[in-house]
Amino acid sequence: METSDRYIDKDAVIKRITDLKKERDAVIVAHMYQNPDVQDIADTVGDSYALSKYCASRPESTIVFCGVHFMAESAKILSPDKTVLLPERYAGCPMADMITAEDLREFKNEHPGYAAAIYINSSAAVKAEADVIVTSSNAVKIVSRMSEKNIIFGPDKNLGAYVARQCPDKNILLWNGFCPTHHKIKKEDVLNIRSQHPDALLLVHPECTPDVTELADYVGSTKGIIDFATQSDRSEFIIGTEIGVMHRLEVENRNKGKRFYLMSPSLTCPNMKRTLLESVLRSLENNEYNIEVPHDTAERAKKALDRMMELGN
Ligand code: 13P
Ligand code: SF4
Repeated sequence: METSDRYIDKDAVIKRITDLKKERDAVIVAHMYQNPDVQDIADTVGDSYALSKYCASRPESTIVFCGVHFMAESAKILSPDKTVLLPERYAGCPMADMITAEDLREFKNEHPGYAAAIYINSSAAVKAEADVIVTSSNAVKIVSRMSEKNIIFGPDKNLGAYVARQCPDKNILLWNGFCPTHHKIKKEDVLNIRSQHPDALLLVHPECTPDVTELADYVGSTKGIIDFATQSDRSEFIIGTEIGVMHRLEVENRNKGKRFYLMSPSLTCPNMKRTLLESVLRSLENNEYNIEVPHDTAERAKKALDRMMELGN
């Protein structure tokens, strides 16, 4: 790759990113699953909800979104006048690809009277068909506050099942999507690691399967997991989510003597890991890859995102 050959020195890459950021009036945001180097040069690191709010509140004219495609798209929908760059063109989310706008329209037609609560891990076209968007940090709150009793939830069947458990008065129909990374965590792994660390609390993401979330001491978004562990007076935690969270846990709990055990070293999201420092540099140098959302789709998707902001606050 041309850029990485030219800037073999990490400090030089970071310096060039910092200079270009100023020149381009850009802010760099990173999801908690990004590579540690990328998290460390970002202006903020967060979960999908925190990042979408942060991007909308920033004065800079360009957002470099280190994450996956649906996240950058959401930032563009909420900040249509800004340039939103995704440093790696093919950084997508397989779960988001498990439902299309046409699928959702058909499902809604088959179930008249149901409102669609759609996970932010979905394309802009799918969001445009939704009644409200949810993230892993606000899904329970939003569904419980919806006036509708009958709800279609997608694409993540596991987050949907978790929400249904927390909102027993709602009648929830699940789409059959899932996250391939979180699906690697099996109940047997949980029982095994718990027997090795009997004093540790188990913190998991709601994209894990119900037989895993049922065993957890805490179920929450990536930011929720980090905040829980950071504020807890306990000292050992088993972590059931993507490996990127381990870096944040270490950064935020330096010298506190806390210990974190990742459920399995294979918990990586290959799409999140595509973005390297060199990708961020190339993105700023070449204005790549510019995220665009057709006007009509963006307007309809924004209504569903705005409803999330209203119900989630
Ligand atoms: P968060 O909502 O916790 O950021 O999770 C997004 C995601 O893609 C998890 O796999
Ligand atoms: Fe998508 Fe799973 Fe990766 Fe999150 S961890 S971006 S849900 S594939």
